[in-house]
Amino acid sequence: MNSIFPDSTQFFTGKKSIILLKEFIKKELQPDKIFILTDENTNKFCLKPFKKIIKGFDNIIIIIIASGEQNKTLASCETIWSELAHNKATRKSLIINLGGGMISDIGGFVASTYKRGLKYINIPTTLLSQVDASVGGKTGIDFKGVKNMLGVFSFPEAILIYPPFIETLDERQKKSGYAEIIKTALACDKSFWQQLSELDFNEIIDWQTLINRTISIKLQVVNADPFESGFRKVLNFGHTIGHAFESYSMKHDNTPLLHGEAVAMGMLCETMLSNKISGLKNEETKFIIDYLLKNFNYYSIKLEAFPELFNYIFQDKKNEADEFQFTLLSSPGRAVVNQKTNIEIVTQCLKEYINLKVEPASENHFLF
Ligand code: GLY
Repeated sequence: MNSIFPDSTQFFTGKKSIILLKEFIKKELQPDKIFILTDENTNKFCLKPFKKIIKGFDNIIIIIIASGEQNKTLASCETIWSELAHNKATRKSLIINLGGGMISDIGGFVASTYKRGLKYINIPTTLLSQVDASVGGKTGIDFKGVKNMLGVFSFPEAILIYPPFIETLDERQKKSGYAEIIKTALACDKSFWQQLSELDFNEIIDWQTLINRTISIKLQVVNADPFESGFRKVLNFGHTIGHAFESYSMKHDNTPLLHGEAVAMGMLCETMLSNKISGLKNEETKFIIDYLLKNFNYYSIKLEAFPELFNYIFQDKKNEADEFQFTLLSSPGRAVVNQKTNIEIVTQCLKEYINLKVEPASENHFLF
């Protein structure tokens, strides 16, 4: 069985982390077979640590799937389940998810459903998955164009945060992860936000300290409410509109937004909404918006996109029945959940978003 409580997930980080993880697998998990799930990109860019991880193990089966959120589908699950069946995976087998958020989402889901649950380990290779996606037991796939519509909570046995992976990332990938760091600070930790608000993305060198702080904040939230019955929803700040942008972009753009890029724009709109609904002060709103515009790429939308965006917003699983609920900010570093709003106010925010004055350099290149 997979771990039920996040407390039991082991974290390995730092220089010796790969050796320690391998000892943990051999001594504690003793799998009969190890399946490594990865994607084309990870296989290409993270080959050296990948070889280090598999050295010394027998019975390793590697499953490579196509990369990108657009492949986080039932069809990819079928491919993976078929590989597991073909290679006679048993309930003593272990799955290692090596890749970004898409891999830990789909790998955790496949592991949790195959034969009612195999143990799994996450080795996140992107900043986004190190600080958010791989931590906290949310697994799932997109379905009928809606993000994470099918999924289960299921916690990994272990997570390996291996610093050198950060060096393999391009700027877009790093910014995408940085958006989740900003989200965690804005939603949960005023002093962390104050520290970040004085930083410029381009000047950050010490990623490891930011990663550790973000994970530690996230774990406090997850441990308090592992199955998101209430409090954990604070981590969804920026995600209702962010997911709508992401789904929209996946459908219409040749180069779709990365998850964090969409969340950054979602945070922008939901900061405006916070100003109207949950008491975020004018000067705080302006400061956050300026910071987001300075550090992330603005994504252009047109009025014609609104009906489709609202479809996605209504389908968001955080909306119970027909109610329209958001996680918003009451002040920087403090998110409040279940904030009821209506279509008119959200439309007003989206219109304000469209009208933001953006320097051409920060505008994206994938307009439609
Ligand atoms: N990504 C938000 C959460 O894990 O709850």
